[in-house]
Amino acid sequence: MFRTTPQASAPIGILDSGAGGLSVLQQIRALLPNESLLYAADTAHIPYGDKTAAFVRERVNHVAAALVARGAKALVVACNTATAAAVESLRERYALPVVGMEPGVKPAVESSRCGVVGILATAGMVESRRMGDLVSRFAAEREVIIQACPGLVEQVERFALDTPETARLLQQYLTPILERGADTLVLGCTHYPFLRPMVERLAGPKVNVIDTGAAVARRLQQLLQQETLLNPHNSGAPTAFFSTAASSDQSALFSRLLAQAVEVQPLTTEDTAASVPC
Ligand code: DGL
Repeated sequence: MFRTTPQASAPIGILDSGAGGLSVLQQIRALLPNESLLYAADTAHIPYGDKTAAFVRERVNHVAAALVARGAKALVVACNTATAAAVESLRERYALPVVGMEPGVKPAVESSRCGVVGILATAGMVESRRMGDLVSRFAAEREVIIQACPGLVEQVERFALDTPETARLLQQYLTPILERGADTLVLGCTHYPFLRPMVERLAGPKVNVIDTGAAVARRLQQLLQQETLLNPHNSGAPTAFFSTAASSDQSALFSRLLAQAVEVQPLTTEDTAASVPC
């Protein structure tokens, strides 16, 4: 177990395989404007969704170690696939608040009027034990259609948010769900909120779309409060962005997704995980 004595003024570390976690970062910024944030994308290994759980766990441990080495007082795994593979390992490793994400099966089932719910997620998430547990805990009596969506993450990483190819892929994934009469759709990957306008357009006005970014921000706030780690003063520090494949293209992508100019810096991870006792 790696122990530090974090200060309330320290930054929060947020990680994802790529740019998807920026959808969660936006929610955290809106709820916790005093906090300084470090965002790390493991773009050299994206997508996580088609890798084994063991590979994803190892990568997440490396990226998290790099964030802790930069002083993170808490970790947010802003990726459903990475949470399924690695959140327990992070909690064993660090005596820090660690917040993970999971598809909003519970709120979807509670708000569905017809009892038919669709979940869009990566292949890794669909196959994970966590997904099976979520469905058996919250939706055993309901009809849940779980749809793996290969290719959508890549479309977001290309900023192809409104292209015919993205529409074709989404239509293909939504059709079996809509044909079964679902009235609620869960965005089970943090890249998908960037496709929300297209999802809503293709699914139509009768379908309610759910994502859990705001709930994750609230959970983070609660944990920081419990540990007296909420920053009482505005840190004044801008968010810093890192990637294992930093490039000017990536800075351009992040800037477009956030509608603000940002620069992505290189993140080296290989030596940091090894230096963390576990
Ligand atoms: N953004 C990640 C998630 O929430 C997945 C991206 C990937 O497959 O790399 O699941």
